[in-house]
Amino acid sequence: MFSVGILTISDKGARGQRYDKSGQTIRDVFSDLGSETVHYEVVPDELDVIRRKLSEWADSGQTDVIITTGGTGLGERDVTPEATVAIVDRLVPGLVEAMRAKSLDKTPMAMLSRATAGVRGRSLIINLPGSPRAVRECLEVVLPAIPHAVDIIKGVVTEHS
Ligand code: MTE
Repeated sequence: MFSVGILTISDKGARGQRYDKSGQTIRDVFSDLGSETVHYEVVPDELDVIRRKLSEWADSGQTDVIITTGGTGLGERDVTPEATVAIVDRLVPGLVEAMRAKSLDKTPMAMLSRATAGVRGRSLIINLPGSPRAVRECLEVVLPAIPHAVDIIKGVVTEHS
């Protein structure tokens, strides 16, 4: 399988004022698939902190997939998409387009997430919204495409039948 980094972005979480249920949900979903979580951290909604952490994990060469949760909305402190766009080499819009489209069947609030996805080096980075419910709903949409995406990024698959 593939290795996973989970970055929870939450001011309250980083201050220890909120249990990170969303991060745990991501960990459980990937563990059920047989994927190992190699990095996990809760950081505040700070552009530089998020940028640094994402770059560090991607550049370590140990993290096939980095999932962030939180900070994708319209709040003044929501900067996860900006931090992600700043450090990726290429965007992968299809992943988040699918997430938002499918999520609209569940809630019109799906329109309010500015989540993005991209590739840095050999790591696929995907933003998810912050709530555990949103995490479950959005992961369900993108999961089927992740193993193949990882294989292509790593150069394991170069042709399609
Ligand atoms: N997407 C799904 N599938 N399910 C949800 O419950 N919540 C929405 C949206 N996307 C939601 C969702 C809400 S209420 C908000 S404000 C935005 O994600 C942004 O969330 P964030 O700021 O926690 O990242």
